[in-house]
Amino acid sequence: MEQPSRPVLFDFHGVSMTKYFTDNWDNVQNFKARPDDVLLASFPKAGNTWVSYVLDLLYFSQMSATRQDSVPLHERVPFLELLMPGIPSVSGVDELNKLTTSPRIIKTHLPVHFVPKSFWEQNPKIIYVARNAKDTAVSYFHFDRMNTAQPEPGDWSSFLQRFIEGKMVFGSWYDHVRGWWDKKQTSSNILYLFYEDMIEDTERELSRLCSFLGLSPTAEMKKQVIEKVLFNNMRKNQMVNGSLDEVLDFKISPFMRKGKVGDWRNHFTIAQNEQFDEDYKKKMKNTNLEFRTVL
Ligand code: A3P
Repeated sequence: MEQPSRPVLFDFHGVSMTKYFTDNWDNVQNFKARPDDVLLASFPKAGNTWVSYVLDLLYFSQMSATRQDSVPLHERVPFLELLMPGIPSVSGVDELNKLTTSPRIIKTHLPVHFVPKSFWEQNPKIIYVARNAKDTAVSYFHFDRMNTAQPEPGDWSSFLQRFIEGKMVFGSWYDHVRGWWDKKQTSSNILYLFYEDMIEDTERELSRLCSFLGLSPTAEMKKQVIEKVLFNNMRKNQMVNGSLDEVLDFKISPFMRKGKVGDWRNHFTIAQNEQFDEDYKKKMKNTNLEFRTVL
């Protein structure tokens, strides 16, 4: 199949974006959220797929084996702002409006101030997943290499520079994680999860998630969920590992790449790390939001 040319990054109301996430803007902004929706938000590469699968299993694994065996995760958990041309085209809003199951689990990478207003009116549960900046940058670099629907990443050092400048699809990591953190301080319907905590103790974080959602799975069911979402099991599972997504080129890199905390140490030079840390301190001052870059 001939690959389409890579999209261009442009400034969209102060946030770097590509057309695939802005072309459906009016429909996204007018999206009608429902009180029983579950919105799963994150900056790209924070572990959104991992948590979507956890949520899908918690809500639906008992109901339908067909769903688990034959429907790719990205169809079960539509991506709100996505509009991908093609035959047929993929529109997150259309997919969500067609879903017959409830609750609807909705994926978004929007910074908090871009979230459609009906979410704040209907007050559904919102889960935000955050991952430390250094591992996010590395994961995003490899993702942009293999995702033909993303801008060309260039080499690692220029990519890292653009990450620091916030010139990534969905903008600045710093603004994203801080914007959602600040919103969470005044909204009891937001749960803020950390990728590093999930790696450290998946069972503990699963319990936090369940209590936030008001779910009480049996111990047996929890065990099954934890087993299914293990990195190596997800990596082998065609329905969740991205291999059915046509824009991803697995010859370049796997989508489920390493699944670790601290892989940044294999990419950052000493000089890059020093520059990054210095800039990080400035951008992240005046916040009590803290990340772990090693465990
Ligand atoms: P790496 O590239 O560091 O391996 P997203 O789903 O938000 O795009 O995030 C993708 C990142 O989450 C990738 O990181 C991927 O490997 C990691 N990931 C996905 N499922 C995971 C799991 N079950 N356990 C640990 N990491 C996982």
